[in-house]
Amino acid sequence: MELDKAIETRHSVRHFTSERVDWRLLLEAIDAARVAPFAGNICTLRVILVHDAEKIAKLAEAAGQDFIAQAPYVVVFCSSNEQVKRVYGERGLMYSRQQIGAAIENFWLKLVDLGLATCWIGAFDDMAVKRILHIPDDIVVEALFPVGKEFGKGKQRSKPELDNILYFEEWGNKRMKNPPSVEVP
Ligand SMILES: Cc1cc2nc3c(=O)[nH]c(=O)nc-3n(C[C@H](O)[C@H](O)[C@H](O)COP(=O)(O)O)c2cc1C
Repeated sequence: MELDKAIETRHSVRHFTSERVDWRLLLEAIDAARVAPFAGNICTLRVILVHDAEKIAKLAEAAGQDFIAQAPYVVVFCSSNEQVKRVYGERGLMYSRQQIGAAIENFWLKLVDLGLATCWIGAFDDMAVKRILHIPDDIVVEALFPVGKEFGKGKQRSKPELDNILYFEEWGNKRMKNPPSVEVP
C-alpha cells in the first residue's frame, strides 16, 4: 500500500471480526515501531504482545472498554526510561513520550498496510494492567492496542483543515510572504 493511502485510510476501529490473524503480521508491525526515531538513539520502547483470551478480557476490564475483548491480540506499548532520564534528566521523560508516539504511528500505519485494524487505548487503570502482565514498577504503560480484522467498514473522522493548524514564520501568521519559487519539471 502506498504511504499516502495508509495515512488517509487509518482510522480507529472498535469492532473486530472473530477471524484468526497470523501473529507474524503483528511482529511486522511491532518491528516498524522499533525503527522509529529515539533521542540519542536510546530506545525506550518495550512491547508486550498478548494473545491469551483470559488476559485480554482482564485488560478490557482494566480499561473499562468491553470492545477490547473482541480482539484476538492486544499490543501493549511501554517505556523503560531509566537510561534516557540518566542522559537527559527530566526532559528525557518528555522525549520518551514523544518517541513512543512516533513508534506507535509507525506501528499503526504498518497495521493498516497489512489490512489490520486497531484503536489507541489511553484510558486504563495503570496498576491493574501492570498486575495482569507482571510489569515492573519502573516501567510506564503508555497505551494498549487491540488488534484484529475490522468488522464492517468504518470511516475516517473529520480532521481540521491545514489552514487551521499552520502558521508561517511566526505564531498566528496565516499567510506565506514571498513564497520560494518552485521549479516545475
Ligand atoms: C492518546 C490517545 C488516547 C486514546 N484513548 C482512547 C481510549 O481509551 N478509547 C478509545 O476508544 N479511543 C481512544 N483513542 C482514540 C481516539 O478517540 C481517536 O483516535 C480519535 O477519535 C480520532 O479518530 P481516528 O483515530 O479514527 O482518526 C485515543 C487516542 C489517542 C491519540
